[in-house]
Amino acid sequence: MVLDLGGRLTQHIARRIREKGVYSEVLPCAAAPEEIKSRGAGAVIICGGPEYVKDDTIKLLDPGLFEEIPVLAMGYGIIPAVNFSGGKIANLNGDKGGEVKTEVYPEKHPGLWGGSFSSFKIPWMGDYSIEYLPPGWNSAAKTETGTVAAAVSAGNRWWLLGFIPPEPVLDNVLEHFLFEVSGLQGGWTPASLVEQSVTEIRNTVGDKAGAVCGLSGGIDSAVSALLVHRAIGSRLTCIFVDHGLLREGEAEQVIKTFREDFALNLITVDASKEFLELLKGVKDPEEKRKVIGNHFIRVFEREAVKLENVKYLVQGTIYPDIIESMSPSGKVVKSHHNVGGLPDSMNLSLLEPVKELFKDEVRQAGKALKLPEEMINRHPFPGPGLAVRVLREINEEKLEIARRANAVVEEEVKKEGLYYHLWQAFAVLPDMRSVGVKGESRTYDYPIIFRAVTSQDAMTAAWYPFSHDFLDRLARRLVEEVPQVNRVAYDITSKPPATIEWE
Ligand code: XMP
Repeated sequence: MVLDLGGRLTQHIARRIREKGVYSEVLPCAAAPEEIKSRGAGAVIICGGPEYVKDDTIKLLDPGLFEEIPVLAMGYGIIPAVNFSGGKIANLNGDKGGEVKTEVYPEKHPGLWGGSFSSFKIPWMGDYSIEYLPPGWNSAAKTETGTVAAAVSAGNRWWLLGFIPPEPVLDNVLEHFLFEVSGLQGGWTPASLVEQSVTEIRNTVGDKAGAVCGLSGGIDSAVSALLVHRAIGSRLTCIFVDHGLLREGEAEQVIKTFREDFALNLITVDASKEFLELLKGVKDPEEKRKVIGNHFIRVFEREAVKLENVKYLVQGTIYPDIIESMSPSGKVVKSHHNVGGLPDSMNLSLLEPVKELFKDEVRQAGKALKLPEEMINRHPFPGPGLAVRVLREINEEKLEIARRANAVVEEEVKKEGLYYHLWQAFAVLPDMRSVGVKGESRTYDYPIIFRAVTSQDAMTAAWYPFSHDFLDRLARRLVEEVPQVNRVAYDITSKPPATIEWE
């Protein structure tokens, strides 16, 4: 059980544990020890960044945690652990929660540190230090100034690391804690959740009721639909609303995959004209999103109410949506409804078959379910689609230019062998023209802005340093093959300060 103290790394740690074949869940740090035990936790990891110290989240942690189950506290998570166990943390500069880089020197415990690790430099909670350890505890690492940086309880059940170790130390720490200290067994795979989820859906829905699912072309809704289809077969109906803002070939692929390959009941709605009409004159990005989101639900509902015997709505909610919708104190801070939100009037119950899976696990499930490779690993694409990549007001002609340009970008990036390395790579069509020359004549056409970034989670992103040769090749192709394009620019800003999308 990973307890979330508000640190950025909570999700990462939970995912890493699963990769080691141990099922893990995230709970707010205010979770009661009884709840943690009742969920069958064999080990607890507390993970916290400097953020949580400021808002007293620390006080929510229950001292009862340090009585039975082995605990590994990392980062700022060690402060309550030391205090609860009879030691003392000194706050050097008031509650600032600042981090400083220090050299950390591991001591003894080769099992934890992997034996061969020498010292490493790491951000350390500079404003705090362990004044004295709880009785019977030992230091397991020191900083360059001799302060205790990691400690272990008598009997080696509780481990405190005043920092999040760098790779590959983190890997070793997790393995040692999970398998040696806590005695857990590996062997769990996302596939076991898939089987479990099919059985659960079958039990929940029973043998009469039907379900409806909005397919978007994205992996989350695709895997959800396939799981529910496995559970209840033809009592599932999928609705695919084509808003006309998708990438080249995307709508055709959704229809072919689900109707032909998987034989799902699929209703397709070509609503592109309606969306274009509604977006006429709309220039503001947020306004575009609102118009598209609202109308999407309306079209979905319009089709869904025609179905008989439907009692369930299938949604592709994934685990990060759930984690991000709870605060460390356990309060819901953000609702996590995906596109195609709950039509209230229909009184449907939710089925969220992948809500316990991380994105890469949904991909693995998709693979196991034999979804086509292009669908599993296609770059993320915003719900409002090309409407936020054609800047300001959209029209059919501009959408076509953006769609064509995007297809060329995807093709070239794939040829270069970089598609899977990049988080996203796409074309943006700005609302302006510039002068160019083609043959003997002057042109007055659009530029394409090429955007490509690497990222772990879209929270931050780095622009990708392509070779000049690649950029040259791409620019030539775009200008030659996409009508009305006479110039190409490459966006060399990272996130922050820019965002990944332009609108
Ligand atoms: P930004 O532009 O905020 O994007 O750096 C972060 C990630 O989110 C995607 N994105 C969206 N996804 N609806 C979506 O479903 C949206 O309105 C939307 N806006 C941005 C974006 O593609 C990137 O992966």
